[in-house]
Amino acid sequence: MYSTLLTSLENQILTITINRPDKLNALNKTVLAELDHAIDAIYKDDQVKAVIITGSGEKAFVAGADISEFTTVSDDQAATLSKKGQDIFFKIENCPKPVIAAVNGFALGGGCELAMACHFRLAGTNAKFGQPEVNLGLIPGYGGTQRLTMLIGKGKALELMMTGNMIGAEEAKSLGLVNYVEPLENLLPKTKEILNTILSKSPVAISKVIEAVNSFYNSNEDGYSEEVHLFSQAFLSNDKKEGTAAFIEKRKPVFKGN
Ligand code: COA
Repeated sequence: MYSTLLTSLENQILTITINRPDKLNALNKTVLAELDHAIDAIYKDDQVKAVIITGSGEKAFVAGADISEFTTVSDDQAATLSKKGQDIFFKIENCPKPVIAAVNGFALGGGCELAMACHFRLAGTNAKFGQPEVNLGLIPGYGGTQRLTMLIGKGKALELMMTGNMIGAEEAKSLGLVNYVEPLENLLPKTKEILNTILSKSPVAISKVIEAVNSFYNSNEDGYSEEVHLFSQAFLSNDKKEGTAAFIEKRKPVFKGN
């Protein structure tokens, strides 16, 4: 169906693999368009309950935006290019279903930005993160200046973006950029294990957790008010009735996601 993505649905978890290994899975126009389409489909597809984004091969998650395409972008298209990438990554960030990045190698530039748009990240021991755009006379354009700052703080974010240096998986973990570092062969199994735990919870509650946490970073919203609103919505759900009844009846809840 896609020419640059592989998708597989197993146990309600959709794995999207960016598949241009000979170009280290760089994000060209086709990848971005297909990713956009795939994310839209996730919102609508009831069979998909959770998503993993990873890269093809053992070398790269995504080594950035496709630099070869930059020469064909006219000066007045630059803002559109950046906005388009940002919009796709917002859809990932705001997805009501969990979206986890399994970073299996280089996550540079747009690749680091893609991983950061996911709800959280696991890394293979071989993973390398960086925002090397300054080497090209550029800055991150797909949300990286904002999300890297949110995730690791201003000083370290500025250092990485000003030096263009890469950091390894363990350093990324110590900075809070990734939650776990796993041997490559265990990266997807561990990611699935975490998602299976999440999938055993109320889908209504999970989507509201995502929304509430995202509102912390939305300057147009008061996160505390948003929390009150989302809490009261969750309170009205059948999942809440089931979860509380199951607790009282000392049995496992069976959540239906409504
Ligand atoms: N855009 C387009 N092509 C890319 C790419 C990118 N971001 N990153 C890697 N590639 C291509 C290379 O051009 C090469 O293609 P070729 O075999 O047709 O020449 C192929 O992927 C393999 O990359 P190569 O550079 O040979 O691998 P390496 O192991 O020597 O180096 C990197 C790996 C990641 C250090 C290096 O590829 C690199 O610096 N990439 C650019 C990273 C970047 O600046 N990203 C931000 C972009 S805004």
